Amino acid sequence: MTPDDEIRAAAQRAQPPQIDSSRSHDPSNNLKRSDPFQFGSRYLEKGDDVFEFNAWDHVEPDDGFKAYAEAQYEKQRAAPVTDFDKNRFNQDPAKWWDLFYKNNTENFFKDRKWLQQEFPVLAEVTQKDAGPQVVLEVGAGAGNTAFPLIRSNENEHLKVHACDFSKYAVKVMRESEHYDEKYMVADVWDVAAQPDENGNYLPPGLTEGSVDVVILIFIFSALNPAQWNRALHNIYRVLKPGGRVLFRDYGRGDLAQVRFKKGRYMGENFYVRGDGTRVYFFDKDELIQMWSRWTLEKGLQVDTESTSESQPAEPEAPFEVVHMGVDRRLLVNRSSKLKMYRCWMQGHFRKRDGPAATTAEAGQ
Ligand SMILES: C[S@@+](CC[C@H](N)C(=O)[O-])C[C@H]1O[C@@H](n2cnc3c(N)ncnc32)[C@H](O)[C@@H]1O
Repeated sequence: MTPDDEIRAAAQRAQPPQIDSSRSHDPSNNLKRSDPFQFGSRYLEKGDDVFEFNAWDHVEPDDGFKAYAEAQYEKQRAAPVTDFDKNRFNQDPAKWWDLFYKNNTENFFKDRKWLQQEFPVLAEVTQKDAGPQVVLEVGAGAGNTAFPLIRSNENEHLKVHACDFSKYAVKVMRESEHYDEKYMVADVWDVAAQPDENGNYLPPGLTEGSVDVVILIFIFSALNPAQWNRALHNIYRVLKPGGRVLFRDYGRGDLAQVRFKKGRYMGENFYVRGDGTRVYFFDKDELIQMWSRWTLEKGLQVDTESTSESQPAEPEAPFEVVHMGVDRRLLVNRSSKLKMYRCWMQGHFRKRDGPAATTAEAGQ
């Protein structure tokens, strides 16, 4: 069997647990219908035909699939990326994303239409009377988040800074028919940037403490864990006190992780795709630690190896975790009888109010 056949067979064998109908939080809201449906409301209950719908919410992988996933991780670890290649992929990651955007059309990612529903903060800042609001989208790619946001915007005073470290991604955004300079500016910026020769490390046109909302959608997974500290530092600096961070990214155990083959493993939960772009799969406790324990002085305090034990938040931590959730979904391909476990992490963090840190710390 080829690796592709194997993963296919595992997805066919999967036996997703079916819960008692009394256990779905609110049976009256258990929408057993096709799109449009409200996220998180279609539970797979005893007696349901799993192939009746394309997707089910809150489905945990069954034990058989979990064991298969563990065996896959062992195989991945046993055949890691060579040191030479690790260097190649880590040294200039923007180069690989540039290639990605050269080779793919602007329609590669789907428009994020669920934004306001999943992140009510975005509904607030785009309201007619919300007043001046500055949103920074990091790793904005082809604009699949920024453009839908602007399309639904009713706030005359909204400005979205859509930044990406790939100059080709920025070119795609700037050349889009949806690019509206009144509400949006697209710029090249590396979220893990160190200060340049003039001490600048913030996005063009933005100063310390000038941003109300930072959006991070499938960007942190593209970073090497060694870059997380610097990224948090830069996000902290650019946010206003009380500013929000909206986060969505890959969760551990997602099918995309399980299906990685030999020669792609860069480190624990960190891989390189066939096109040279990197991807990390997050754990819930790890993200809670990341955002509730990071400080300017101590940096990151995340134990990526063992996240099973909850660590207390740092009392002086500049960020607080407002919400951290796991979005698990079972996607079903009815014709090939595949049952695919997907897992995403969704977080809402807040920069605490309080005195701004001194400029002396800015160079960290
Ligand atoms: C998986 S794509 C997601 C794009 C977009 N956020 C979306 O959800 O459609 C990851 C994006 O992050 C960008 N990226 C990766 N590392 C970055 C960094 N250090 N600074 C800024 N952007 C980065 C990549 O160029 C790419 O456009």
